[in-house]
Amino acid sequence: MTVRHLILPAFLAVSMLHASEAAPQPQVKQEGIKYIKMLGGALKGELKAHMKNDPSGLEALAFCTSSADTITKEVNAKLPKYASVRRTALKVRNNSVNTPDATDRKVMEAYEKAIADKTFSPKDIKIVKEGDVTRIYKPLVTKAVCLKCHGSALSPKIKEAIESAYPHDHATGFKEGSLRGVIVAEIKKH
Ligand code: HEC
Repeated sequence: MTVRHLILPAFLAVSMLHASEAAPQPQVKQEGIKYIKMLGGALKGELKAHMKNDPSGLEALAFCTSSADTITKEVNAKLPKYASVRRTALKVRNNSVNTPDATDRKVMEAYEKAIADKTFSPKDIKIVKEGDVTRIYKPLVTKAVCLKCHGSALSPKIKEAIESAYPHDHATGFKEGSLRGVIVAEIKKH
């Protein structure tokens, strides 16, 4: 056997290994974005319809309070067993289901830094690999419509309804353009 015969198979093996490691990444990202859109779309559609029906925001607030978690569970029930999707934030309203973990906090702090540095894009999807799980993060920027329930000048009725449903609420005082939170999809190797 010549040296060339030895090198070529070794080279192929290495390049194949790289290919198999690199190839799933864009697919996993696309799959995560699909699940993020499922949850984001479901919540956004309902929020819009309720805000239109009752511009004070009270009807939409009642809807979010009673159904945001149910909708999240319904969307998750449609996903494959190896995947999940949820919302979280640094300042949380519903601390029984939306509390961030250390990884979530790191990613959101990076988004906040990018906003402060003016390098942020709402299209900046972040991918974090932890063992068998890949997380795909999409930032949620505070828009004018969000301020009714997450801003600094809440109407007295909205304020009262939030205080009674969420005695530990931290999700007010946001400004337009600030990071409200993220949607994160988690995809397990399968
Ligand atoms: C009508 C009131 C209302 C409006 C408008 C509203 N939210 Fe919320 N938001 C809520 C309530 C209530 C919850 C808690 C839902 C629950 O119990 O899971 C919440 C929770 C969230 C959460 C989950 C994290 C947490 O704090 O529990 C995110 C993220 C969020 N809202 C983002 C937004 C964004 C972005 C907008 C604007 C596009 C927006 N919200 C507009 C009422 C509102």
